[in-house]
Amino acid sequence: MSLSNIAKNLKGSEIIKIAGEINELKRKGEQIANLTIGDFDSNIYPIPPELKNYIKEAYDANQTNYPPGDGLLVLRDSICNFMQEHLGLNLTSNEILVSSGSRPIIYATYLALVDPGDTVVFPAPSWNNNHYCDIIGAKGIAVPADADNNFMPTAADLRPHLKGATMLALCSPLNPTGTMFSQKDLEEICDLVIEENRTRPAGSKPLYILYDQIYAMLTFGGHKHLDPVSLRPELKDYVVYIDGASKCFAATGIRVGWGFGPEKIINAMRAIVSHMGAWAPKPEQVAMAKFLQEKSKVDKFLGNFKARVQKSLDALYVGFQKLKDEGLKLDAIEPMGAIYLTLKIDYSGKVAPDGTILKNSTDINFYLIKEAKAAFVPFSAFGTGDDINWFRASVGACSLQDIQEMIPRVGEALRKLK
Ligand SMILES: Cc1ncc(COP(=O)(O)O)c(C=O)c1O
Repeated sequence: MSLSNIAKNLKGSEIIKIAGEINELKRKGEQIANLTIGDFDSNIYPIPPELKNYIKEAYDANQTNYPPGDGLLVLRDSICNFMQEHLGLNLTSNEILVSSGSRPIIYATYLALVDPGDTVVFPAPSWNNNHYCDIIGAKGIAVPADADNNFMPTAADLRPHLKGATMLALCSPLNPTGTMFSQKDLEEICDLVIEENRTRPAGSKPLYILYDQIYAMLTFGGHKHLDPVSLRPELKDYVVYIDGASKCFAATGIRVGWGFGPEKIINAMRAIVSHMGAWAPKPEQVAMAKFLQEKSKVDKFLGNFKARVQKSLDALYVGFQKLKDEGLKLDAIEPMGAIYLTLKIDYSGKVAPDGTILKNSTDINFYLIKEAKAAFVPFSAFGTGDDINWFRASVGACSLQDIQEMIPRVGEALRKLK
């Protein structure tokens, strides 16, 4: 069978391979603390009850025909208010595009701005940019970010790669690290983009920023979400934002995402999303619009949900710090946002009890799945080399109790390594 070059060259997900291993053990009746998937167990983290009821009501009211290509106006108006209240962003409904989750918005941003052969710059680790570049035929440049800077890229990291590039893809809070930009770092990156665009001849393509803030509502402690246009308003014509309901309302299966940016770009993206037919289902749009208008219910849900996610992340962080204090070669970066914790499990080169040498982070991960019944995702799945012993732990699909019970198992398994 002859497939297209895109289909032939698309890389499979490393996370799917890990899922295969976990499922195999589950089939044998093992209990695994599965911290691999960037999703929620909806029995632990259900969607807001009002949202669920409004969805049912919308089906009962036969809201089941095609929605408009850019999303229901009432939803886009509600999103404007939601963004204003929570993030202080001033938007109008014609700067917003709704789609079936935020992924089609990301893909449409690539399609609207990037031509085959254009350069797209993104940090490593980061989520899926390499795959979007492969699909588009863009030249992706993965710029390694430093553990000492919480794996967030800096202007100094990016500067050598931006000359002539078409898009810089950024994300904060970042999947996979759960860390966020400091104001200084994001301002310096914004200034770099402004500086680069000043050098471009009139009529040539500028450097755009894709800014993925899908986790913006999930920030902890004193960490405040920041975004490029709020820091540097002159960037307004050059930034497309990715956002949506999937993560902040534990609503990954509801499929309501949105993006916003310059009207001209959003119009182009609307045409692309329409040809894909990647609209959010109409009943979900009707329900989401109604829910977002109920500020006290939204705030109540977010407050409670965030506190629970933070409790799990903190338990994991504190647990790993304790194992580190006991002498194990571990580390963790303080949780700042999203549903992820960055863990260092520095055991490559060590020998397992059965004589197997753990050559890299993938081997360490599979060892822990088998020996500690604990599953993480090595950063190599997010574009770094597999010689880096850093991992993503995602807490959305695990109970607090499962996380607490898993930590001593990890310690025990690591102590067996020679
Ligand atoms: C950074 C980031 N952006 C976008 C998405 C996609 O979200 P959605 O489920 O709304 O398509 C994810 C999902 O994991 C993500 O981690």
